[in-house]
Amino acid sequence: MSYEHILLERDGAVAIVLLNRPKQLNALSQAVIREIDAAIDELAADETVRAIILTGSGDRAFAAGADIGELASLESATQGRTLATRSHHLGRKMADLDKPIIAAINGFALGGGLELALACDFRLASDTAQVGLPEVTLGILPGWGGTQRLPRLVGPGMAKLLMMSGDRIDAAEALRLGIVERVYPQAELLDAAKQLAQKLAGMPPLSIAAIKQAVNRGLNMTLDDANMYEAGLFAELTATQDCKEGTRAFLEKRKPEWQGR
Ligand code: COA
Repeated sequence: MSYEHILLERDGAVAIVLLNRPKQLNALSQAVIREIDAAIDELAADETVRAIILTGSGDRAFAAGADIGELASLESATQGRTLATRSHHLGRKMADLDKPIIAAINGFALGGGLELALACDFRLASDTAQVGLPEVTLGILPGWGGTQRLPRLVGPGMAKLLMMSGDRIDAAEALRLGIVERVYPQAELLDAAKQLAQKLAGMPPLSIAAIKQAVNRGLNMTLDDANMYEAGLFAELTATQDCKEGTRAFLEKRKPEWQGR
């Protein structure tokens, strides 16, 4: 499949999805959202891909939000709902994907840009990154999952403070709050993301997929239900070839060879 607004690169088992509208600070038009959605489908079907990096082209932005020109031209609440639900659908797809997705935040991640990063499994940021949910300044709210995912990371008070003030925060503050997991000098960010992606790509894929689902789905359950779900996933993994290989390799003091079965 060919794309107009994103670039899709592969480096062995790692795929890199590059948001590619640098002149508009990689603003997320509906066409961009559709292409990311299609790229996730393509990468889901590609068994050689084991980990994905999502980042922005240029050195200024991961993504400076939804395309404000498109927001300004919305003519009805129905169109507004469609715009929100398309991105919710993409977020669900990213959460359900059985491969890890790393956001490499190489500059501004604002509004929908931060919401897209929040839908990834981890967020690595450059020391130049600035993140925030400034939708309030446009007379709307973060409608691509931000009102729900941010409080799950930072708690309801801090999430409301950031969303009601619309304030941007720097990478160090984002790290302190747990919005990003690691911060690197700008020039080292992509290599760090690749290193992490390669490390995850070398892990047993069924374990990686199960950990992702245990956390993502478990967060929406009661603790008892989530533990029950965890036990089911654990049971399935104990019956895999990779579990036999991993435990045997430990006892035989050798490196395991994963089959993904
Ligand atoms: N949608 C559409 N275009 C955008 C955009 C967005 N979200 N964010 C930036 N752009 C465009 C600008 O219009 C400008 O285009 P132009 O050169 O044709 O005028 C270009 O990207 C560069 O942005 P500019 O504002 O000139 O850069 P800056 O360095 O002065 O400011 C930001 C950078 C990120 C602070 C500023 O662009 C901004 O506040 N963007 C909007 C952020 C936002 O509210 N996002 C939430 C949307 S839900």
